[in-house]
Amino acid sequence: MQIFGVDIGGSGIKGAPVDLDRGDLAQERCKVFTPHPATPDGVADGVREVVEHFGWRGPVGLTFPGVITGGAIVRTAANVDKGWIDMDARALFSDRLGGLPVTVINDADAAGVAEMRFGAGRGRRGTVIVLTFGTGIGSALFVDGALVPNTELGHLELHGHDAEKRASSKVKEDEDLSWERWARRVQKYLAHLEMLFSPELFIFGGGVSRKADRFLHLIEGIKAEIVPAQLQNNAGIVGAAMLASKDAYGGLSGQSAQRGQDAGGDR
Ligand code: BGC
Repeated sequence: MQIFGVDIGGSGIKGAPVDLDRGDLAQERCKVFTPHPATPDGVADGVREVVEHFGWRGPVGLTFPGVITGGAIVRTAANVDKGWIDMDARALFSDRLGGLPVTVINDADAAGVAEMRFGAGRGRRGTVIVLTFGTGIGSALFVDGALVPNTELGHLELHGHDAEKRASSKVKEDEDLSWERWARRVQKYLAHLEMLFSPELFIFGGGVSRKADRFLHLIEGIKAEIVPAQLQNNAGIVGAAMLASKDAYGGLSGQSAQRGQDAGGDR
């Protein structure tokens, strides 16, 4: 089965029909630039352009870089236009897409759901934390494969700062940090998460997952296993489509949709 997934990020709005049985894009994705400022109206136009590029007429799952409740309502907007706050994003996107059924989900939750089903977290029980390093730090917390949505662990306070203002990929770039210095900050952040949650596994997503060999060996003293994400760039698109399929048809497609393994199944 195919469902359309869209990932709304700081620099681009990317989308494609997703093959839910393979957990991969069914066609090459289409990307348009995210408007600046990333207002609801501008982003909705970008989403329409991406979806119309494929002539898609069916359910659409979208990620959003903030807290989303009920698959619809935006509660926070740390790195996008504040005009999003309290908006019914599902209604906005559905309207702009000519009435297509729409589900909206936090970007890190979407990436996490896809990683747990098709990537580095496949078959992993216990407590797993997926972190996405980009403009901010996104988090997705899983207990025996079930998502605890909207955890926002990137905003934990670390030495008096929002953690994502110390250890995101953007901060590494902006402050021109070496891998060693950045890894030290990440290590402190992970130690803090470990103190709070004692996870079995951390999965590192976002652009840095492609460069794991540059920094993973620099992180010391963490008990949990740390592995790079496997789906990389497409995790958000795949996860958004998985959740939209669940909302539209009740239950994830594919053979292994069993309770508990069904990441996000208890949202
Ligand atoms: C937002 C999260 C989001 C993360 C990654 C944070 O600033 O608060 O909701 O998942 O950035 O985009």
